[in-house]
Amino acid sequence: MRLRIAALLVAVMCVDAAPLPRGETLNDRPVIGILTQEVSDPNLQPYGGTYIPSSYVNYVESGGARVIPIRLNQTREEHEKIFRSINGILFIGGAVDLETSDFARTAGLYFRLAIKANDEGEPFPIWGTCLGFQLLTVQVAGQNLLSKTMAYNISMPLNLTSEAQSSRMFAGFPPEMLKALSEEPLTGNFHHYGVTEQVFVGNKRLNSFFNVLSTNKAENGAVFVSTMEGKKYPFYGVQWHPEVNRFQWSPQYSFPHSKNAVRLSSLLAEFFVNEGRRSSHHFSQQEESRALIYNYNPVYTANVSGYEQVYFF
Ligand SMILES: *[C@@H]1O[C@H](CO)[C@@H](O)[C@H](O)[C@H]1NC(C)=O
Ligand SMILES: *[C@@H]1O[C@H](CO)[C@@H](O)[C@H](O)[C@H]1NC(C)=O
Ligand SMILES: *[C@@H]1O[C@H](CO)[C@@H](O)[C@H](O)[C@H]1NC(C)=O
Ligand SMILES: *[C@@H]1O[C@H](CO)[C@@H](O)[C@H](O)[C@H]1NC(C)=O
Repeated sequence: MRLRIAALLVAVMCVDAAPLPRGETLNDRPVIGILTQEVSDPNLQPYGGTYIPSSYVNYVESGGARVIPIRLNQTREEHEKIFRSINGILFIGGAVDLETSDFARTAGLYFRLAIKANDEGEPFPIWGTCLGFQLLTVQVAGQNLLSKTMAYNISMPLNLTSEAQSSRMFAGFPPEMLKALSEEPLTGNFHHYGVTEQVFVGNKRLNSFFNVLSTNKAENGAVFVSTMEGKKYPFYGVQWHPEVNRFQWSPQYSFPHSKNAVRLSSLLAEFFVNEGRRSSHHFSQQEESRALIYNYNPVYTANVSGYEQVYFF
């Protein structure tokens, strides 16, 4: 009996190794760019000028993509070439100016390229987390609409809107996960500013570009937009931090690590990478090898920050 199962397994494995039907033309080797950011934390400044916390790299990789870091201060031509080679971009959280920093200016360049590509029928997704979310609102509104909506070191359930039910972001969520998301504190918040629901809904540019998928209440009682998705464009923003649920463990912070918190983080990473599979951009083999994050080593930073490891550039 055991032998027969073994034989069956071998047979199955052989079948697996045979060429698969071609099916859809999805890109199963997606590469996601993560934009580096100027180091603002004085504790991290001795290590380098720009950085990406490893948690964001792990997050994207866990969804089934590879990562390339995108350095700031390259020429427009260099950035355009990178854009034509990657299948999506992630804007990290952090603390730099949303209009004048190199991070913001470079993000704006990719944002405009992504708008153009999507308009021309070439899907190109963007994910913004925390500051990255805020940056997307500035790009779309053409102005900084942030106000004090402090929710720092606190985990909350999302107050999901009716639009969440018909969203792309949550379409693949099992019903019990959506329920957990709206009842359990699965979303870690670490921000001082945000866009209030009132301002968001009252701004023609924002409300025509994005659907609000969730809101939350700040410490001062202000209701801020916590999750949004482009109506037409595959652009997604979360004011909270899905990556911490699986990839940050500092006991000094309140990171959600429950079973459902981990599942939430996995579902969203896979969702975003799946969006990237629709993009056919690619590097040449040689350029890809040189660009991938595997060429860099993260630095141990758990003794000086809330990040266990950080890549510096
Ligand atoms: C980018 O270049 C400007 C001008 O040379 C410089 O002031 C700035 O520090 C550079 N930023 C980064 C992140 O390297
Ligand atoms: C959730 O949002 C709805 C609609 O904006 C509001 O009436 C309700 O009070 C909110 N609930 C919480 C817990 O914030
Ligand atoms: C964050 O919250 C946790 C748990 O409530 C607490 O132990 C910790 O001191 C807080 N950290 C900061 C930086 O506020
Ligand atoms: C943090 O840890 C690293 C690696 O062990 C060490 O080189 C560094 O000196 C430590 N920094 C502080 C401020 O303790």
